[in-house]
Order: sequence, then C-alpha cells, then structure tokens
Amino acid sequence: MQQNVDLQPLNSFGLPARARWFCAVDTLDTLQQALQFARVQALPVLVLGGGSNILLREDFPGLVLHMQLRGLQVLEDDGDTVRVQVACGENWHAFVSECLAQGWHGLENLALIPGSVGAAPIQNIGAYGVEAGERIESVLVWNRDTSAVEQIAAADCEFAYRDSVFKRQYRDSRIILHVVFRLQRHAALNLSYSTLAQALAGQQPVTPQAVFDAVCRIRRSRLPDPAELGNAGSFFKNPVVSAACHRELQQRFGDVPGHAVDAGAEAPVKLPAAWLIERAGWKGRRLAQAGVYEKQALVLVNHGGARAQDVVDLAQAIMADVRKQFGIALEPEVQWVPAPQGEDARDC
Ligand code: EPU
Repeated sequence: MQQNVDLQPLNSFGLPARARWFCAVDTLDTLQQALQFARVQALPVLVLGGGSNILLREDFPGLVLHMQLRGLQVLEDDGDTVRVQVACGENWHAFVSECLAQGWHGLENLALIPGSVGAAPIQNIGAYGVEAGERIESVLVWNRDTSAVEQIAAADCEFAYRDSVFKRQYRDSRIILHVVFRLQRHAALNLSYSTLAQALAGQQPVTPQAVFDAVCRIRRSRLPDPAELGNAGSFFKNPVVSAACHRELQQRFGDVPGHAVDAGAEAPVKLPAAWLIERAGWKGRRLAQAGVYEKQALVLVNHGGARAQDVVDLAQAIMADVRKQFGIALEPEVQWVPAPQGEDARDC
C-alpha cells in the first residue's frame, strides 16, 4: 500500500492527479487485503486498468487499485475452437498479437486498442466492425458484496455499443479478474467496415495477418499515439438517432453520414460524432492546453501540460455547440472520475 501516488503516468491523457492510497494488485490475496483496508478506513475505491479511457478530474481521495494480474491459460482447444482465459492486467494489444501468432482468430479487428484485457468487457471495446463482447464467453469477477469469485456468462453481461453490466449495476460491486474468450482457428474474417474493406481492396487472399496489419495502419494514420500526445481515444460515443431524425438532418445539412444499427427501413441510425464535431467547426481547435485532434475530431488531446478542467471545458463547449447546431446530445465515452453531476451533467 503506497500513499500519495502520482497518477499522471498511469492515465493516457497524461493529466495531473494523485491517489491518496494506491495498491498494485497482482494476486487475489492482495486484492482482498486492499479491499479490507478500504472497508476499515471507509475509503472510496477506484479500479484502474491501462488508464486509457479515463478522465481524472482531481486527486482521488481514496484507494486506487491498479490491476496487474497476469497470465494466459488455454482452457480448451479442439482444433477448431480455442477457449482461452486471460488475466485482467495483460495488455490488450499484446494479447491480440499473441492470438494472431497462435492462429486463434477473431480479434484481429481490435488490434492496437490501448488498455488492458480487464477493461475490454467494461465498455465492450469495439472497432472496425467487431466488438469484444462477441468473442467473450464469460468474465471472472471478484464480488465485493459476497467476497467470492463469480463467473458471469456473456449472455448476462448485457453487452451493447460501448456498454455492459459492468458500467451499470455491477459498477461498484464487481472487479474483473479474468476474461474467457472463445476464438476460432478457421474464423471468417469481418470486413464489414468500409474503411477496412477499402484498405484491403485488391489483396488476395485476405488473411488474419493482413486484417491485423491493415487495422494497425489505419489506426496509426488517424489516431494519436498516447505516448506522443495524451488522449483517451474517442471522447464521445456515436449518438444513435431515429431514422426520421436522420432524414430531417439530411434535409437540413445535406449528406449526413450514418448507418442503420439493424435491418429495416426505419431502423435507428448511428451518426458519426466526429462528423458532427467537425461540421460544428471544432476539428483542430484548442482551448487552453486541450484540443480536438486535427486528424480525427472525436479525439480530444492534451497538447502538453493540460489540466483536467481544460479538457472538461473543451468537452462541454463541444457538447453545447453540437446540441445547439444539430439538436443532438453527445454522451462522453470516456469515464469521468468523479462522474459529472448537477450542472456538469446538463449536456451529458
Ligand atoms: N468523420 C468525420 N471527421 C473526422 C473523422 C471521422 O467527419 O474527423 C466521419 C466520417 O464520415 C467517417 C466517420 O466519421 O466515415 C467514421 O469515422 P471513423 O471510421 O474514424 O470512426 P468513428 O466512428 O469516429 C469509431 C469508434 C472508434 C473506432 C472506429 C473504427 C466510437 C465512439 N469510436 O470511431 O473507437 O476505432 O469507430 O471502428 O464508437 C475508441 O472507442 O476509443 C475508438 C477509437
């Protein structure tokens, strides 16, 4: 247990914040002891993984648990399906790379996403047509209410677009320890995302390695590397609106991109928040030391020395503007700590 620990190197935004108490959790025993300490001292607890989807708004007054459980275990391999259990502290991209090397397919589209394996189910990370929830079989958690390990089947995780039960009713009671994935040795590749299909056009045959390489290339060309420019990936979710609302926007603003979330003429439409933000004139703009990334309007960046309030001010200005111009409420995708309340929450 450490005191007054600097969290700046542990959040990919690179924002200054300190933890009153801090514990590197590398065993279940350590986790139990740390939680007991927090209970006795009546401390709030913050579970931190790779720190790549978090906006630390101030110093954390309680105990930060830095999840560092390691290990990968093959539970079953029948020559076709491979079931593999991975500890929460493993790096996500290293795990995806290992799967590719082993010939276990299904996660290629999720290459190069920053963060840890344990964070993947929480917001059901997704990219280029695939969501992690589609490949997860179950999640092993520590249940703080019963002080026991519990296995939650994927069907009970309520996976949805950037959402799961771990963001909602299990947020304070369950801590993710391991994730079990179901992967395939002969997987059909998912080339449904047009940017990815275009990047692979003309390549024959398209192999999992080619998909992995293309995803890495696209990400490197559009998204800033947190090691060079602090950021937490997409800052907002892509809003989902009714088909009628999409038609109305098209009438008012011309060709508004969007794609139906399921079949049927009246299916709701997911709008690219990046388009709304760019069209509202924010792409590349700066407010104090925070800014909108010049190559991808959905990513807010720390130009160096930003305070959390700079990012909050920028985010709120964008939300207010998008609401005013398009009548659409953007919802942050990044987890704010503490969560926005009262006035802050007005536009969230
Ligand atoms: N666009 C703009 N301006 C921009 C960037 C994009 O108008 O500056 C429009 C274009 O119409 C483009 C569309 O937005 O076709 C989609 O852009 P992109 O393919 O870059 O994807 P995105 O919707 O902005 C989402 C995820 C990303 C993920 C990509 C690829 C969310 C919140 N974000 O971004 O996830 O990598 O799709 O699947 O769903 C993340 O969550 O941190 C993240 C990076």
